[in-house]
Amino acid sequence: MSFRDDGAAALEWAARYLERVGDYPVLAQVQPGDVRSRLPASPPEQGEEFADVLRDLDEILLPGITHWQSPRFFAYFAVSASEPGILAELLAATLNSVAFLWRTSPASTELEALTLDWTAQLLGLPDGWHGHIEDTASTSTIAALAAAREATGRGVVVCSEHAHSSVDKAAKLLGLEVRKVPADAEFRMRVEELDLADAAAVVATVGTTSIASVDPVPAIADACASAGVWLHVDAAYAGSAWVCPELRWSQEGVERADSLVVNAHKWLFTPMDCSLVWSRRPEDLRRAFSLVPEYLRTSDEVDSLSDYGPALGRRFRSLKLWAVLRCYGRAGLQVRIREAVRLAELFEGWVRDEPGWEVCAPRHFSLVCFRREGSDAENEAIVESVNRSGELFLSHTRLDGRYVLRLAVGNERTTEQDVRRAWDALLQA
Ligand SMILES: Cc1ncc(COP(=O)(O)O)c(C=O)c1O
Repeated sequence: MSFRDDGAAALEWAARYLERVGDYPVLAQVQPGDVRSRLPASPPEQGEEFADVLRDLDEILLPGITHWQSPRFFAYFAVSASEPGILAELLAATLNSVAFLWRTSPASTELEALTLDWTAQLLGLPDGWHGHIEDTASTSTIAALAAAREATGRGVVVCSEHAHSSVDKAAKLLGLEVRKVPADAEFRMRVEELDLADAAAVVATVGTTSIASVDPVPAIADACASAGVWLHVDAAYAGSAWVCPELRWSQEGVERADSLVVNAHKWLFTPMDCSLVWSRRPEDLRRAFSLVPEYLRTSDEVDSLSDYGPALGRRFRSLKLWAVLRCYGRAGLQVRIREAVRLAELFEGWVRDEPGWEVCAPRHFSLVCFRREGSDAENEAIVESVNRSGELFLSHTRLDGRYVLRLAVGNERTTEQDVRRAWDALLQA
């Protein structure tokens, strides 16, 4: 078989998968080790046909896939790899650019800068911020905190008790101490309890992982400005919502951040992985990361984006983001974000109207936190039961010591009917 025939078969596989993804059990219904036990322990001596790979993908791997592309994936933060993004991934792999220097892929470097500028415009961010792409928000936050440490020479990172664990991980890696600030009744950082002694950075979150709460960024920015502390804003999930002007209330103060992370692979319809980092102080990122050994020296008088983060080799990630922005446009992005928010709002209403159920936190964006009256064990049993049924996939958090269910809408294929099916399954459970 030729690349063309195998490619056609692979594309057909992808198209059929996307047509049927809503029919599969959302959470993989396998036991640990099931997939591996069905695969040979050693690689083949002689090459096989690509068709054999596709066959095993269907027969062995697919049952072990949790379907993040399913319209009834409501766990963590639901994501979508859109069709333009999927096709652009194929093209990026075909080009296989490794853009560590401008000259090793001028188009990749320049398109990355351009797509970050485009996205900044779409989200209403200030002009002139320097943008680049990292793999994940975890790495983006490492980059930001390394720059903060470089800029301030201090050793403490301050964040709310609801900040994502990637902040703790970055601090651990960078040898920084983490100081947690308690949150108020709506799960926002209590600014009056900020202690900025020896602080290199404050990480404020817009759209926390558990409940999508929004820290009071303007007040945090005031405190950072007077203490000379770096402000990093983690809007990994919620930042994409800023494409809709009516959701920009949550952007207040972000224009004063020193750095910002938004994951295009969370709610901007871009396949995993694509984490966008902007900074108002790119020279501090450069000071933290730029290292030019002899073999990387060139006479090119242009920036290399590997100078702004930990990795040297850089994939052509901007191609998929560019494809999504071009094929959806501002209007297409807004329609999808608004629909996710509308569906979450609808679900929230059903929970509120149903005796015996309660909404446990103010709903922001497309995330609903809720629970059934009764014990934690009973609520946990509900989650276990619906997830085991394959009908939908939910995750949980703990708020004020109580087990709470989370329904996050974010897949572009999710319809009102999917959300209704999820609610019916929960009522039955
Ligand atoms: C607010 C927030 N920040 C950071 C992250 C980490 O993202 P990543 O998996 O891209 O490292 C998450 C993940 O859900 C998140 O919700």
